[in-house]
Amino acid sequence: MPRTKTVFVCDSCGAQSLQWQGQCDDCGGWNSLIEQRNSQTAAKRVVATKSPEIGPRRLDQISEEPERRIQIGLSELDRVLGGGLVPGSVTLIGGDPGIGKSTLLMQAASRLSDGVGVLYVTGEESLRQLSLRARRLEIHNAGVDVLAETLVEQVIATTINSRCGVVIIDSIQTMVSDALSSAAGTVSQVRESAGQLVRLAKQRHVAVILVGHVTKEGSIAGPRVLEHMVDTVLYFQSDAGSRLRLIRAVKNRFGAANEIGVFAMTGEGLREVPNPSAIFISRHAVAVPGSVVMVAREGTRPLLVEVQALVDDGQSGHIRRLSVGLEQNRLALLLAVAHRHGGVSMAGQDVFVNVVGGVRVGETAADLPALLAAVSSLCDQPIARDLVCFGEVGLAGEIRPVPFGEERLAEAVKHGFTKAIVPVANVPKRGIEGLEILGVERVSEAINAVS
Ligand code: TYD
Ligand code: MG
Repeated sequence: MPRTKTVFVCDSCGAQSLQWQGQCDDCGGWNSLIEQRNSQTAAKRVVATKSPEIGPRRLDQISEEPERRIQIGLSELDRVLGGGLVPGSVTLIGGDPGIGKSTLLMQAASRLSDGVGVLYVTGEESLRQLSLRARRLEIHNAGVDVLAETLVEQVIATTINSRCGVVIIDSIQTMVSDALSSAAGTVSQVRESAGQLVRLAKQRHVAVILVGHVTKEGSIAGPRVLEHMVDTVLYFQSDAGSRLRLIRAVKNRFGAANEIGVFAMTGEGLREVPNPSAIFISRHAVAVPGSVVMVAREGTRPLLVEVQALVDDGQSGHIRRLSVGLEQNRLALLLAVAHRHGGVSMAGQDVFVNVVGGVRVGETAADLPALLAAVSSLCDQPIARDLVCFGEVGLAGEIRPVPFGEERLAEAVKHGFTKAIVPVANVPKRGIEGLEILGVERVSEAINAVS
């Protein structure tokens, strides 16, 4: 492409054209071309180099020093990050509006400012609003620099001048680059601003934290463009009406993905819940049908969660199968296995399954608990309150082992459970003191054990 001052780039497919037109030639999208300043030709940017600093290096000669971490001091957040912020990394925190992202980051900024320079950039609120929040959070130390700015080039210049170690951008959707003429919040603006900030992080070894609003479809900034660009993606979630906030790492180049941290929203901001293991269980005074406790493993720690099911005569013509917190397709599969291999038919019944507390359990260890909860509800037969279970269910009706069986059982004992139904291969050879463990091989055995 000849060197012109500006080009027009399609917002949805990225195709370039020299002049503006109403419809993109490539993808056919309407009104999607955005004027963009032409970057210097790539050849000019390539530096002919013999310097070992910039040129290629032998893989085995790169030092193995562990990543240096900046500890935030909020242990639940540090845990999700894999031990703290890594200098030069970019972290994206996504979540619904009002869930507490700004609150969390203001608290994090205050803790961080004891050790490194922190710049908090807001594109959404005024500095007065920030100061009001800080007062409400009882943050008194003046170590945090705040800046109300939306022009990303200005933000970068300020970051470089202030020599801070951490910069927080609240939010990436409000940032605009003057290289583009499109409005704030469009995909091209978000992508360009994030790209510039990623470059800043890598070149200056600054830890960048981006706040991203989640769109109605649940992804950050519409298409998942940002998730590919950053090192770590955290999602902030909560159950409607609940004070509990879960922060989950869905991608982490420097730690375990799927790790979760738990906070509670209080009048004075977010408080850490360092031992969340049993908070997702609603303790019924008496055992009720359709409820069973499982030991899930989220990230690196076991978590006791209650799986509930309600099986009811279908009222309308079509039968409903709904699951919240568990995969929907998995439920249909489990009901088919229960019928074919367990002799329990739920045809003609509505089946609802829910994981208490807004937790999402993605692992197959939830198969057996969901199945037993449904059977318990169907038969109106409560499952003992001091029983836990977990296990994967196979299509042939077999119960398969899951990782970290012993650790899960140990966690259950800690919380006063005395019985467990688990896959045979997960039964520890030496047993576990205080726990009566039933190892099952077939779905039918498990169903017989509870009904
Ligand atoms: P906020 O951090 O502004 O959310 P986000 O940046 O994700 O949009 O949090 C807003 C909510 O948090 C608001 O409904 C009030 C509540 N809140 C508290 O309950 N306690 C507090 O100490 C603070 C600062 C906010
Ligand atoms: Mg906010």
